[in-house]
Amino acid sequence: MENLIPSITSVLVESTKLSVIPLRLLKPAEFEEFHARASASFTRQMEQAGFNGKDKQCCALRDDKGMVAEILCGVPSALGLYTLAVIAENIKTQFSNDFIKSVAFKIERVLSVEEANNAALGWALASYRFDHYKKDKKNPHPILLFPQGADQKRVAAMFEGICLAKNLINLPANDLNTDELANASERIAKTHNATFSKISGKDLINRNFPMIYEVGKGSDHPPHFVELNWGRDDHPRVTLVGKGVVFDTGGLDIKPPAFMGLMKKDMGGTAHVLGLAHIIMALGLPLRLRVLVSIAENSIGGNCFRPGDVIKSRKGLSVEIGDTDAEGRLVLGDALTYACEGAKPDLIVDFATLTGSARAALGHDIPALFSNNDDLLDALRDLSMKSEDPLWPMPLWQPYLAEMKSPIADLSNIGSGKAGAIHGALFLQQFIDNAVSWIHIDCYAWEQSGKAGRPQGGADTGLRSMLAFIERRYNA
Ligand code: BES
Ligand code: ZN
Ligand code: ZN
Repeated sequence: MENLIPSITSVLVESTKLSVIPLRLLKPAEFEEFHARASASFTRQMEQAGFNGKDKQCCALRDDKGMVAEILCGVPSALGLYTLAVIAENIKTQFSNDFIKSVAFKIERVLSVEEANNAALGWALASYRFDHYKKDKKNPHPILLFPQGADQKRVAAMFEGICLAKNLINLPANDLNTDELANASERIAKTHNATFSKISGKDLINRNFPMIYEVGKGSDHPPHFVELNWGRDDHPRVTLVGKGVVFDTGGLDIKPPAFMGLMKKDMGGTAHVLGLAHIIMALGLPLRLRVLVSIAENSIGGNCFRPGDVIKSRKGLSVEIGDTDAEGRLVLGDALTYACEGAKPDLIVDFATLTGSARAALGHDIPALFSNNDDLLDALRDLSMKSEDPLWPMPLWQPYLAEMKSPIADLSNIGSGKAGAIHGALFLQQFIDNAVSWIHIDCYAWEQSGKAGRPQGGADTGLRSMLAFIERRYNA
C-alpha cells in the first residue's frame, strides 16, 4: 500500500466551487424556536420527516423548486468528536452518490475552537474505509468546508496520524511483514526529517537485543529494532515505544484459531506510536522525540524459540520462557532497557497489544493504563474521559511479581496467578529505570462492532488521550 497517510483535502476544504448546502446544527434548546419561526412548507417537511430535533437526526429542507435549501441536524449541547461523524453518515444515506459529489456542506453556526476541531475531525474520520483490496472502492464521502475557528493544521495532522495507525493495523501480515513495517517507520521518519536507524536479524545479537532476536528468529521475515529521533536537543525528552509483532501465532504455544484470527493487529502498539509520532512532528511540538519499535513475527519453525528456553536480556536479567505466546513483553523489554540508557528521558510511553487479560478486565474499548508514577494516572484518566478516548488505571501490584519466579532464571515471562495484564506490566517494569516516569498502555487496537467515525477494524485507542496528555505536560 503506497499511501498509508491519506490527505484530508478530499473531505475537508477551505473553499469550493461546488454549490454549498448549509448544515443547521440545532442544539436541544433550539428546536422549538426554529420550529415556531419556520415557514409552513418547512414545518410540513419537518413533520413529514418526523424531525423533532433529537440528537443524530437529519432532515433536508427543500425550497419550492425541490432544491435542498439546508439540512437540519439535531446535535447535543456540546459537539463531541463523533457528532459530525454520525451526521455525515446520516447524510450519505439520504442522497445519491452523484448528488453527494456535486455539493459541499457548510456548518452554519459559530463554534468554539474545541467544537470546530471536533466537528472537522469527526467528519473526516467518518470518511475512513480500508478498501485497499476492494474492486469497488468506497462511496464518495461528502465534502465539508472547514468550520470557522477550526485549527486546520491540527485537524489534518490528527486525521493523518489516526488513519496511518488504522491502515497499519488493517494491513494483513502478508502485505505488512517485518521489513514492511520497518520501511513504513522509515518513511515517517523521512517525512519529518527525523533520523532513522535499524538493527536487523543477527545484528540484534551483536548489538545486544537478544529478546527481540529470540522472538523473531523463527520467522522467514527478520526481526528489527527501529529508532527514530526528532526535535531539538534542549527540549524535554519523550520516548515512545511500540510492540510491533506483525503476526502472533503464539509460537510453539500455538494459539487456537479463534484467538489467532485477528493477530495481524499485534503490531497495534507500533501503529499507535507511529501515528502519535506523526502528529507530534507535524505539529512541531517542543519535544525531543524518540520512537523505538520492536518488530518481529512470532512464528513456528525449526529455529523458533521454545518453552523452557532461557534468554539473557539486554538488561542482564535471565528470562525463562514459560509461554512463547507471551512474546510482546520480551520484545518490549529490550527496547525499554535501551530507552533508559544514556540521557534519561522525562517520559517513556509504551503502547502494546500485550494481554488478553486486559480485555477480560476492561473490554475492547478501554485500554489498561499502568504507570510507575501514580500522579500521572488520575490526570491521564480524567483527560481521557474529556477526550472521548478512555483509559483506565490498573495497579503495578508489586506482590504479584513473586508469581513470576522461575526456578532456573531470574524471571519467568508468565505469572502463576490470574492477573495477566498486571503480570505483563510488572514484567515490563523490570526493564525500566524507575527514576524515569513510565506509562504502559495495554490496548486492543481493534473496533469490534463499527460505529460512525470508527469502522469495524483497526482502531486508535488511547492515542488522542496521550497526545492531549503530552501537550498539557509540556505546555505545547
Ligand atoms: N498478542 C497477545 C495478546 C492479545 C490477545 C491482545 C488477544 C489482544 C487480544 C499476546 O502476545 C499474548 O498472547 N498474551 C498472552 C500471554 C499469556 C500467554 C501469558 C495472553 O494474554 O493470553
Ligand atoms: Zn502472544
Ligand atoms: Zn502478542
